[in-house]
Amino acid sequence: DIKETLAGKTVLITAGPTYEAIDPVRFIGNHSSGKMGFSLAEEAAKRGAKVILISGPSALNIENENITLIRVTSSKEMFTKVFEFYETVDIAIASAAVADYAPKEIAAQKIKKSDNSMFLELVKNPDILKTMGEKKSHQFLVGFALETNNEEENAKEKLTKKNLDAIVLNSLQDEGAGFKKDTNQIKIITKSEILDFTLKSKKAVAKDILDFVESKILK
Ligand code: C5P
Repeated sequence: DIKETLAGKTVLITAGPTYEAIDPVRFIGNHSSGKMGFSLAEEAAKRGAKVILISGPSALNIENENITLIRVTSSKEMFTKVFEFYETVDIAIASAAVADYAPKEIAAQKIKKSDNSMFLELVKNPDILKTMGEKKSHQFLVGFALETNNEEENAKEKLTKKNLDAIVLNSLQDEGAGFKKDTNQIKIITKSEILDFTLKSKKAVAKDILDFVESKILK
């Protein structure tokens, strides 16, 4: 029996990878499955929230009357969609693995192979989460970080730089945590605390994250 602890709240979640087109048939992407974001969406919906799930290309699907699933491809599309809704939401959780760079130009035709080496110029994508932090008013804003060194220090720096309320640190050190896996091992970091969780299913991790958010926003 689930209590509708998030009834009346709207939650925006970004999920999955982004694909940045190189030409009509190729892209730059990553191995993000979208599992963490979809698990968060499902758990928030169970708790009675209205969920806007904005996902890059993912094999996952979700049907729930409380969830509006918006599929996007590139980081620029994700950016546009996020800011169509951002002002109206109570909680925003950025779990998408957004590409940091995209090709400067998308070739109109399939690029033919010719020389032994080729050069592809990339330009930085807009940081969706950082922009959410800049525009933050009433929203409780949660980001993710995946670090391979100085994990806590780097995550804390992101927390400050992006003006977040909390950052979820994914550990890559642990067997079973991260991309494409069904499990994850996290720490939730705020300005004043570090909460350490054990390795568990992404569904269970979603519960921990939302329990934490509720502990901060519900009086
Ligand atoms: O700076 P870094 O990419 O490590 O930060 C990761 C966090 O920022 C994640 O929450 C990710 O969803 C978000 N992000 C974003 N837009 C980008 C890059 C990262 O929303 N262009």
